[in-house]
Amino acid sequence: IFGAGRKNSKGLNMNIQSEAKPFFKALEKYEQQQWHAGPLIDGETVSGTVHDVLSPYDTRQKVGTIAFADDAAIEQAIYSAQRAYPSWCRTSVEERANALQKLADLLEENREELIALCTREAGKTLQDGIDEVREAVDFCRYYAIQAKKLMAEPTLMPGPTGELNELFLQGRGVYVSISPWNFPLAIFLGQVTAALATGNTVIAKPAEQTSLVGYRAVQLAHEAGIPESVLQFLPGTGATVGATLTADERIAGVVFTGSTETSQRINITLAQRKCGIVPFIAETGGQNAMIVDSTALPEQLVQDIKDSAFTSAGQRCSALRVLYVQDDIAEGIIEQLKGAMDELQLGYPGAFKTDVGPVIDTTAQTNLNAHIDKISSTGKLIHSVNLTEECQHGHFVAPTAVEINSITQLEKEHFGPILHVVRYKAKDIDKVVEEINSTGYGLTFGIHSRNESFARELADRLNVGNVYINRNQVGAVVGVQPFGGRGLSGTGPKAGGPHYLFRFVTEKTRTNNI
Ligand code: SER
Repeated sequence: IFGAGRKNSKGLNMNIQSEAKPFFKALEKYEQQQWHAGPLIDGETVSGTVHDVLSPYDTRQKVGTIAFADDAAIEQAIYSAQRAYPSWCRTSVEERANALQKLADLLEENREELIALCTREAGKTLQDGIDEVREAVDFCRYYAIQAKKLMAEPTLMPGPTGELNELFLQGRGVYVSISPWNFPLAIFLGQVTAALATGNTVIAKPAEQTSLVGYRAVQLAHEAGIPESVLQFLPGTGATVGATLTADERIAGVVFTGSTETSQRINITLAQRKCGIVPFIAETGGQNAMIVDSTALPEQLVQDIKDSAFTSAGQRCSALRVLYVQDDIAEGIIEQLKGAMDELQLGYPGAFKTDVGPVIDTTAQTNLNAHIDKISSTGKLIHSVNLTEECQHGHFVAPTAVEINSITQLEKEHFGPILHVVRYKAKDIDKVVEEINSTGYGLTFGIHSRNESFARELADRLNVGNVYINRNQVGAVVGVQPFGGRGLSGTGPKAGGPHYLFRFVTEKTRTNNI
């Protein structure tokens, strides 16, 4: 898949005793650990306004502290990253790729600490933490290999005799990476490593909720051989650090994952700069649907619905939000779904048995609960999982399913464990397709049907980036399911795919009359 015999990272199988036992033992060390971090400018941690980091699982538990960058740190980061660019751009792609391969190894060596951080700072379950590290490792290795493929040699272009025409790809300058809290390591490093591999210097702004994970990732990148001035780290809010960085005319490109609204604001800021137009790569939200017809296999379907809607507490941009189920089978599927939801284990994300942890913060919790109240009064509540006593000190939201009439009732994405269910009649399938396309989002789409031609036709007609047939619709694998959407869901190119790196480079033709 990666070429040259390289495989995706294996991760860990917690069902195998010999893998699980040492893993749990190693995790113990981090149960009480506190992490302290701040802006990393040329490899030095500098001071800033300090905030406590509290566990989303239990807000009485402190995970550490984070200092947010001030204006002086932002200026220093831009200045240094810009100065470091010419030499990094001319460093051979082999050397840059080797540093990323080394980073992948270091991530695996530090897996337990990174998983513990994902659990304690971001409220991720252990399985999500394992997958997070695995995906981060894959991004490092995949972009290292892709960059070498694209950049090691110029492309020779045909021309008149006596003339040598060569086409080169080069990094563009200082890239700003603005990453989300739901994949604080994988997406953070996916963005950063794509920019670094192609010869750009990077200023990384993590999500303010998950800056500690980002800080450790940058420390490991420096240890792996990425020069300190080439990768700068600026924790802070979007309104301060993010806005200042994107408005700065020294920035040569922005790579962003987060909400559609924020991406629109960044786009305006970039457009208003009085300098060259630069690449903007945005991966944003979704209003992801699944269509199920009466030929679907019920047991597999219900498992896939559960995984798609409630894994990671629904905090994936790929997650299933609206299930369209053919009316002939709807009643039976809804009954089975209720049973499957009751099997979900909510609680401490660091426990082996937990399937669903907390949502990220109070704002998310309040907004999601407000949506559940509102939509349950206009639609029909199907089921809501009971929150146990254990959940009372954290930002838990009960996994909930609600029946509604149409996806068009939802004005925006609700980023949590809420599934909307719509019954449709077979004769209305064209209207269903139209409705789903009319949202303007286009990220993931699921189909469950044993009618192959029906499934393929739907896959063609839905205006989305990732289609999944007869399986769940989350967990795209680097180099296997390149990930990203269109319309309100993002600009492309797809992360973890063969075209992603093109957005990080500029082209130069050299014509030599020899
Ligand atoms: N790439 C993730 C997934 O496929 C979402 O960001 O679930």
